Amino acid sequence: MHSPVPFSLLPDHAAVDPDGMLTVAGVRIDDLVEAFGTPLFVYDEEHLRARCREAVEAFGDGVAYATKAFLCKAMARLAHEEGMHLDVATGGELHTALAADVPAERLVLHGNNKSIRELRMALEFGVGRIVIDSFDEIDRLESLHETHGQIATALLRVTPGVEAHTHEYIATGQDDSKFGFTVSTGVAAKAVERAMASPAINLIGIHAHIGSQVFRLDSFRSAAKVLADFSNPLGLAELSVGGGLGVAYVDGEETLPIPAWGKIVLEACAEAGVTARITAEPGRSIAASAALTVYEVGTVKDLEGIRTYVAVDGGMSDNPRPVLYGSGYETFLPRAVQADRTKAVRVVGKHCESGDVLVREAFVPEDIAVGDLLATPVTGAYGHSMGSNYNKVLRPPVIFVREGEARVVVERETYEDLLLKDLG
Ligand code: LLP
Repeated sequence: MHSPVPFSLLPDHAAVDPDGMLTVAGVRIDDLVEAFGTPLFVYDEEHLRARCREAVEAFGDGVAYATKAFLCKAMARLAHEEGMHLDVATGGELHTALAADVPAERLVLHGNNKSIRELRMALEFGVGRIVIDSFDEIDRLESLHETHGQIATALLRVTPGVEAHTHEYIATGQDDSKFGFTVSTGVAAKAVERAMASPAINLIGIHAHIGSQVFRLDSFRSAAKVLADFSNPLGLAELSVGGGLGVAYVDGEETLPIPAWGKIVLEACAEAGVTARITAEPGRSIAASAALTVYEVGTVKDLEGIRTYVAVDGGMSDNPRPVLYGSGYETFLPRAVQADRTKAVRVVGKHCESGDVLVREAFVPEDIAVGDLLATPVTGAYGHSMGSNYNKVLRPPVIFVREGEARVVVERETYEDLLLKDLG
């Protein structure tokens, strides 16, 4: 017997209409589907704004939204309007933020392999901070300095040697990492020395990101300790602790709110004697539970005595997280939000491979049928942003809802879009 989907996993302004239909910010899901079709990403705009405000409140000016979690022009503008800086990890994210009129000085450029082109772009536009990740990057900044004369305002990324206790693919704080400079081996100290001596670099701080979807608060505390010991003697102005706050995806998981996370990080830094200004880069905790994905059920295949497969009209192209990280999701029918979910099924997509699973062990109401709308909550981060066109499936639109109004911020792709760059 599985209870209804917990409301804590739904956007802040989710509610249920008298006839049982889910609404977000006063808009019925069936009306959205009527207007925009399926699959569909539905974001509660006020939820996004509230999380941004919490981050600014917790860390003060300088805290950056990690755009890799979810980025389009509307989101870049929203985070900027709410007072956040933006962390961009590639030229493409940088381009998108600039296209949304976010001032370059509010941007932080990341990346473990920034190209000359990306670095040049950042310097020309006057990006606020470049986070240096390798000696090769220092070489590149120096050669750009020689030819163009620009000086990079920079943080230097270090790996504090801390286990984040998260999925291997998203753990980044351990010594064995492609990111940053290792503290424990003394390489980070050498990198700081070189950056400080370089005419191409104005080093203003240290950066570390231990991993993503981190629930263990002791990991953040240990990182703070190592970072304090490393950065205090340098006397630099800033220390960014990255992002990583874990969010609840399924029933029974508990999320720490952003203010509580901020408090823990700041206290740990204070205890460790950090004198620099602390900043952070939350991504998932801003966007994840702001959205849900709505699909239409196309087939219900009952393999007697084995399993029931429920296939929807999206899949690994709009949410590759289950396939990549084995991530779990809840699922429910927006027409019956409060119904008990007693039927065990596997929710799969429409892609041509068996790995295309959205929810491995899903529970849905007994009367699920072809034509039903089916939703997965907590898809606001790393869903749309990691989407693909595998099997030439069209990427879904993104709809923002607020105070009873819906607006399309990213349109559904068309078959013509698929061929835009195909010269035949
Ligand atoms: N700062 C840096 C330098 C990062 O690399 C990341 C995430 C963040 C901030 C934001 O972390 P968050 O607050 O979102 O945990 N695709 C994976 C997550 C990859 C995270 C990569 N870096 C997933 O779907 O779980």
